[in-house]
Amino acid sequence: MDVTLSAIKADIGGWVGHSVTHPETLEKANELMAEAKDEGTVLDYRALNCGDDLQLIMTHPHGDNSEVIHGLAWDVFSSCTAVAKRLKLHGAGQDLLSEGFSGNVKGLGPGLAEMTVSERTAESVIVFMADKTASGAWNLPLYRMFADPFNTPGLVIAPSLHGGFSFEVHDVLEGKKIVLNAPEETYDMLIYLGSSGRYAVKNVYHRDTGYIDASASTQKLSMLAGRYVGKDDPVLIVRCQGSYPAVGEVLEAFSNVNIVEGWMRGSHNGPLLPVGFSSAKCTRFDGPPRCIAAGFQLAEGMLIGPLDMFDDVAFDPARERALQVADILRSMGPFEPHRLPLDEMEYTTMPEVSKRMESRFEPIVGD
Ligand code: F6R
Ligand code: MG
Ligand code: MG
Repeated sequence: MDVTLSAIKADIGGWVGHSVTHPETLEKANELMAEAKDEGTVLDYRALNCGDDLQLIMTHPHGDNSEVIHGLAWDVFSSCTAVAKRLKLHGAGQDLLSEGFSGNVKGLGPGLAEMTVSERTAESVIVFMADKTASGAWNLPLYRMFADPFNTPGLVIAPSLHGGFSFEVHDVLEGKKIVLNAPEETYDMLIYLGSSGRYAVKNVYHRDTGYIDASASTQKLSMLAGRYVGKDDPVLIVRCQGSYPAVGEVLEAFSNVNIVEGWMRGSHNGPLLPVGFSSAKCTRFDGPPRCIAAGFQLAEGMLIGPLDMFDDVAFDPARERALQVADILRSMGPFEPHRLPLDEMEYTTMPEVSKRMESRFEPIVGD
């Protein structure tokens, strides 16, 4: 059976400040999605939150980029924005950059990851959701999952993975893309993946079969809006087991510190904390950036789950190391590399401040 898995998310208002999504907005989302399931628009759904982002995970038969599904998500976000406005939540409707819906959520603000798959006998998938960080935050874990044998031994010892994976990488500033093959092009690929502010992995494919294995949201909110409106807070879907990395190989990619951009005012580097659902609450310095992992088995399009994958003491050391890095970075205050480098500050609120100083600069003469 062919089924499309869509993860569409938006920050439609935070409680308190930018900490989390309010339970009443989640209730509204669940109510509307239940109606959509009754009407047969979706096969199944889950409405979750990571920090202040409302996450709609949906299965349906409509394929990628379906106007029906994207329109449904837009309507749910709009109705939840009305709840957010009534409760006077912070930044109500923040990510809905357009007045109305026009065929597809791409370019309108919400983040989107989706894939259409032929459901296997056992279809294990993990949906990763992050808050207070940018598209590109998944580059390092995706590299580890699909190209690093020290993370994924299956690349070496499992015949079904040995042929490698290809990475579709997007230049999010110039709107260009390139496909690079692992393992033979990994050195070239790392030039781009290492610059995660500009290049983001969109999709990963299994090279022997050409099947899609991972898909991430890569939209850049600041580019869409032409100003800083909040971070992208990306989502990622990964299929696991069989011809793909095992669940544990996929999760292992989060066992080391990954320093990402985002955090306070979208202007700071900080560690991406892998946390259980109950800790998906951004408080300290509006963060630190964090991500949750919702595991599912698909059964004829039904979402069997979620299983809270990072709710495991085995990730405690990873969290502790990340929090030590958070302390070290915080001690640097407004200095790089805690604060983002100047060229990336262009996409924050800082240019407004530096504009005031422009006329006071004079040429250095005689030095
Ligand atoms: C980061 C984020 C927050 C806000 C900060 C100021 O992605 O959302 O750190 O940038 O709380 O928020 P405003 O400008 O809404 O008062
Ligand atoms: Mg917010
Ligand atoms: Mg957010």
